[in-house]
Amino acid sequence: MENNIESTQSKKRILSGIQPSGALTLGNYVGALRNWVQLQKEDIYESYYMIADLHAITVRQEPKDLRKNCMDLLALFIACGLDAEKEPVFFQSHVPAHTQLGWVLDCNTYMGELSRMTQFKDKSRKHADNINAGLFTYPSLMAADILLYQADLVPVGKDQKQHLELTRDLANRFNNAYSDTFKVPEPYIPKIGAKIMSLQDPMQKMSKSDPNENSFILLLDPIDTIVKKIKRAVTDSGSEVCCGEGKEGVENLMSIYSAMTNKTMDEITAEFEGKGYGDFKSAVAESVVDVLKPIQERYADLMKNKDYLESVYKMGAEKANYTARKTISKVYRKVGFIQP
Ligand code: TYM
Repeated sequence: MENNIESTQSKKRILSGIQPSGALTLGNYVGALRNWVQLQKEDIYESYYMIADLHAITVRQEPKDLRKNCMDLLALFIACGLDAEKEPVFFQSHVPAHTQLGWVLDCNTYMGELSRMTQFKDKSRKHADNINAGLFTYPSLMAADILLYQADLVPVGKDQKQHLELTRDLANRFNNAYSDTFKVPEPYIPKIGAKIMSLQDPMQKMSKSDPNENSFILLLDPIDTIVKKIKRAVTDSGSEVCCGEGKEGVENLMSIYSAMTNKTMDEITAEFEGKGYGDFKSAVAESVVDVLKPIQERYADLMKNKDYLESVYKMGAEKANYTARKTISKVYRKVGFIQP
């Protein structure tokens, strides 16, 4: 079989993204962003990180809020430690190849596959008055985001696993039909913190769309709010800091603490042996504040420097377009379009 996958690529590639649909939660940070920063520091991958603005309009957005959320997210990416000068950080809408490949993949995705996506079902329930076609086909656009960059690895939280499986299926389907074109990507889901749960209901995912504000921590929440929310987190009637049935609330706080301090779950259990939830929650709160405070400070500085942010996203778009164009022209040729 003809092998057209870019052979000049020396480093393995990473692509991931976050939707600019409001403030980021600690779940986004632990499940995704924090790992992006660590992976970028390892310096063995070439990475592309994007703000998924095209995805955001699957839910109705106020244009001025969307613009603000996009710039906020860009600043937060950098504040969390992404090196946007070294590797591209860009807005998805600045790279037309995403929608171009999205359409080709739409034509190779079955309705049945899209109907099975749990996120589609969840969002349709939440936005019953606006179940639009974009919301339905969103997973094939997400597949396009990944396949365009010939990504080897996609660091995401657990809730994106099903989308990644579909991406792999679409890559294989296209490769079988038109000869090797796409790398088949692997998800990178962290062992700890892949799904940070609501602080008020540890059976539900922590999500910024939760009506109960005490259920989530935002990266930009004031410090005293963060401490209060952690102190109010639901635990159980016992006092032991450990994992197990009925201990989901404590286990969730342990995952957060583990992500903030790099301590293992066993080390955490040992650290709090004989101590109550009060001490434990204070330590969790302190660890979160230690990580988020410097991020908030860097964010505030970055937001004063809009020219810098603009230079970052322009540079990012240039690099991303360069890579994405190579894939889309190959795809267009393979499906039989006449070259312009
Ligand atoms: P989004 O914007 O909903 O979430 C961004 C990332 O944060 C992770 N995440 C969590 N991780 C742990 N615990 C939680 N409570 C939690 N909440 C969110 C998500 O798993 C995700 O990694 N479709 C994607 C955005 C996207 C994308 C892509 C991702 C668009 N194109 C291409 C990867 C590759 C989304 O809506 O994520």
